[in-house]
Amino acid sequence: MNFEIQKTADGSDTVLNKSLGIHYHSTNGAITEAEHVFISAGFNYFSQSDIAILEVGFGTGLNAALTAMHAKEKSVQVWYVGLERYPLTADITREIGYKTQLPPAAATAWNAINNAPWNTKTTIDSSFAITKLETDFTTWTTNQPFDLIYFDAFAPDNQPEMWALEQFKKLFAMLNPNGVLVTYSAKGVVKQALRNAGFTVKRLQGPPGKHHMLLAIKE
Ligand SMILES: C[S@@+](CC[C@H](N)C(=O)[O-])C[C@H]1O[C@@H](n2cnc3c(N)ncnc32)[C@H](O)[C@@H]1O
Repeated sequence: MNFEIQKTADGSDTVLNKSLGIHYHSTNGAITEAEHVFISAGFNYFSQSDIAILEVGFGTGLNAALTAMHAKEKSVQVWYVGLERYPLTADITREIGYKTQLPPAAATAWNAINNAPWNTKTTIDSSFAITKLETDFTTWTTNQPFDLIYFDAFAPDNQPEMWALEQFKKLFAMLNPNGVLVTYSAKGVVKQALRNAGFTVKRLQGPPGKHHMLLAIKE
């Protein structure tokens, strides 16, 4: 595949998959989007001391690194599973500017997370452990329950199979009671599929450049 690193509006980098013409983050600000959608709406929704998080679309590890930093700040124990079908090459991760663009604690975590081996649980620091799984989400299943799902697949127009009802039913079953799923998309078809899968869906204010995002709760 053909990748290029591009700067987004908040000065942080994103990756463009040139073959598909798709960006990994919002061009209105990669770190801003990650903080808004996944940390503020998702991670900060919880006040418990242990959280199991599943990420669909591990990508650059940006969401994972920010989560590790916030987990440390809040003294929360996180076990994080990141699913990725197409891991980025070492060349691309070397070039991304997150080592200097992220706050130091997140940059340190980002480095360790990207150096962690695939398909093995790795302890990053005293509050964060990660298992990066190289797998296809659409066929992946587990008996492991999660509290929080970061649903960060490419957009529904680009990858409709990721946003299908059967996939949301699968994720609903993986969540603990009162667990939540957050995603940047607020498309009507996504909202409807989440509702049909059993979620209570709330539309929240979106990050810069997007009116809304979704918080889906397993009540
Ligand atoms: C929007 S990007 C995720 C950005 C990422 N969360 C980050 O923090 O950088 C979507 C990711 O989903 C991955 N992906 C695409 N199809 C997939 C599949 N079937 N299973 C798992 N991951 C997939 C892509 O390779 C890409 O890394």
